[in-house]
Amino acid sequence: MENERVVSGMRPTGKLHLGHYHGVLKNWIDMQHQYDCFFFIADWHALTTHYETPENIPDHVTQLMIDWLAAGISPNHATMFVQSDVPQHAELHLLLSMMTPLSWLERVPTYKDQKENLKERDLGTYGFLGYPLLQSADILIYKANQVPVGEDQVVHVEMTREVARRFNHFYGQEAGFEDTCEAAISKMGKKNAKMYRNLRRAYQEKGDTEAIEVAHALLESQQNITIGDRERLYGYLEGISKIILPEPDAKLTKASKLPGLDGRKMSKSYNNTIDMREEADSLTQKIKKMPTDPARMRLTDPGDPNKCPVWQFHQAYTDEKTHEWVKEGCTSAGIGCIQCKQPVIDSVQAELDPIRERAKQYENNHDYVKSIIHQGGEAARDIAAETMQDVIEAMRFSHT
Ligand code: TRP
Ligand code: SF4
Repeated sequence: MENERVVSGMRPTGKLHLGHYHGVLKNWIDMQHQYDCFFFIADWHALTTHYETPENIPDHVTQLMIDWLAAGISPNHATMFVQSDVPQHAELHLLLSMMTPLSWLERVPTYKDQKENLKERDLGTYGFLGYPLLQSADILIYKANQVPVGEDQVVHVEMTREVARRFNHFYGQEAGFEDTCEAAISKMGKKNAKMYRNLRRAYQEKGDTEAIEVAHALLESQQNITIGDRERLYGYLEGISKIILPEPDAKLTKASKLPGLDGRKMSKSYNNTIDMREEADSLTQKIKKMPTDPARMRLTDPGDPNKCPVWQFHQAYTDEKTHEWVKEGCTSAGIGCIQCKQPVIDSVQAELDPIRERAKQYENNHDYVKSIIHQGGEAARDIAAETMQDVIEAMRFSHT
């Protein structure tokens, strides 16, 4: 849908590499043209694990923003900002923490895993336990419909759905709710009212989820009802409470097909990365040093591309004709490995040329980068403040 809202974030932990570019950023670049996108740098999330050295985080924030801009995410299409510039994330996190059962956080698999794996850090903190709930606040504060994430993050989005449901259940109830809804339905006119009732029945009696979608579209197109009524009627479709915080869907990002230089997953901890801003010389050297099929000790030994990480780079970077040339040349020992690597080097260089070029411009103009961050924060705060108003009102927690 055109006006669906997308929210996603990244922790500022250092330079991005081609795994991030092919896995996450290219996907964001596509989405920014299709949806109302909010992309933010989760600096508070970085603090949950790096609380001993917070002074390093701001520099990573700037560098991450430069990586995003250089990759082609544009402030003209997406709202790009920094989490800590929008205090409403923290405010909503606090309120949600009051009603979130401790067991929901304790059972999140990333919690136990990471706590045990990252033994060099003490992660027995309140903040680290609350990590997924802060993430829920990040998403719900923008009433996001879709959250593009990698596989490991899907459970966090699932928990976010549960938190939203619980919030709506507690605070979406109002006296005379059904009467108010019935009155709102009548305001839509006879035909639409009948359609709404039929769709509601189809969902409630038969669990027809398509009916829900049609009903949502129907509600979107209504001009005669107030925003409050629309929210009630969304909720009334499914139950008897109003929807203040909609449940987001996780949109699983396909893992990048590009492996690291050694054929394993590209990751800083394996020391097998090509950075998005890798210098040309260093890039050439890295690919030249890539391991190949171990059976090809000498130029005259035939090889098997399927046992060679360079072949996976060919698949990501070169055309069909080159693939034939590799298969034929490798298995017949007709080409050497250095020769085989050259087209890969050329295409990766060609991919990185414009990225490096743009990154240089931003590196030389930090003020401009800061102004983008500043404007993004302002736009994000406006939306976040609206949600906070709805939240406070639903909780009837305002004393003014
Ligand atoms: N936890 C995410 C990660 O480590 C980053 C993140 C924080 C995020 N808040 C978010 C992602 C909200 C999506 C939506 O990758
Ligand atoms: Fe790998 Fe190419 Fe060498 Fe074959 S010729 S082993 S595919 S680098």
